[in-house]
Amino acid sequence: MPNQPPSPPLVQIRDITKRYTEAGNERLVLDHVDLSFYAGEFVVLLGPSGSGKSTLLNLISGVDEADSGSIFINETEVTALNERDRTLFRRQSIGIVFQSFNLIPTLTVLENVSLPYELQPNTNRSTAIQEAQQFLARVGLGDRGGSYPDRLSGGQQQRVAIARALVHQPLLILADEPTGNLDHNTSDEILNLLLETTRAAGKTLLMATHSMEVIPLADRIFRIDNAKLIEDTERLKQGAVLRAEIEARMADENRKTPEAISPLEQP
Ligand SMILES: Nc1ncnc2c1ncn2[C@@H]1O[C@H](COP(=O)(O)OP(=O)(O)O)[C@@H](O)[C@H]1O
Ligand SMILES: [Mg+2]
Repeated sequence: MPNQPPSPPLVQIRDITKRYTEAGNERLVLDHVDLSFYAGEFVVLLGPSGSGKSTLLNLISGVDEADSGSIFINETEVTALNERDRTLFRRQSIGIVFQSFNLIPTLTVLENVSLPYELQPNTNRSTAIQEAQQFLARVGLGDRGGSYPDRLSGGQQQRVAIARALVHQPLLILADEPTGNLDHNTSDEILNLLLETTRAAGKTLLMATHSMEVIPLADRIFRIDNAKLIEDTERLKQGAVLRAEIEARMADENRKTPEAISPLEQP
C-alpha cells in the first residue's frame, strides 16, 4: 500500500500541456503538468469547475490527446499509441465512473455491467454475465439485473456504473465527480462503496471531486490551479489528523459500548 510504493509508478504524467481553441481564442488548460502515483493509491484531484480536471482524466484515459508531454500507465506510453490502440488499451485497463452515470438506456442493468467484460479479448458471453451478476451483487443490486437504467434512482444508477467500472478488473479506476449529481446521503454511500470496492480489489482510484468528505481518506491530494498541478500535502496532513480523530472516536465508542450495555443486561 501507499507507505511502501513499489516502483515504477502505475501512472506517470510527464510535462503535459493542453490547450483548447474555441472561436479563435486559445485557452491554456494544463500547463506543463507532472503527476505520478502508485498502484493501490487513492488519489484525489481538486479544483474549481472549469479548472481542467475532466481534461486531465480524458488525457489519462486516452479519450483526448495532449499537445505535448507523455503519459505512461503501467509502463505503456499511452500518448504514443494511435487512436485505435488507445481505445483497446482503455477498454482493457481502465474503468470510468462519470458524474452523469452514462449507462446505456437500451441495455438492461446486467447487460450494462457485462459489456466491458464482453469487450475483452477471448471472453464468452456467459462468463461475462456471471461476472457481471457477481459485481452487481457486490454493489447491492443483485436483484435488479433485469431492470432498465431509467427505472433506477440516481444512487442506484451510480452503483451500476461502479460495478461496470470494476467488472473487467482494470488497472486503474477514474471517477469524474462521481457524486456530483447525488444528494448528500446518497453521495456518502456512493463514496464509501467506490472506495470499498476499489480497495477490496486492490485497485488504484483517481477521483476528481468537489467533495471534501474524501480528504481524510485520500492517500494523495492534487489540485489544479491556473493550469498548474500542485500536490496539496498540507491538506493531506489535515486530512490525516481528521482521520486519526475519527478513528480514535470510533475506538472509544467501541470500548464504551459493552460497558454501558452490560449493567442493563445483567440479570
Ligand atoms: N472540447 C473542448 N473544447 C473547448 N474547450 C474545452 C473543451 N473541453 C474543455 N474545455 C475547456 O477547458 C477548461 C477545462 O474544462 P474541464 O476539464 O471540463 O474542467 P473541470 O472538469 O475541472 O470542470 C474549461 O474552460 C472548458 O471550457
Ligand atoms: Mg469536469
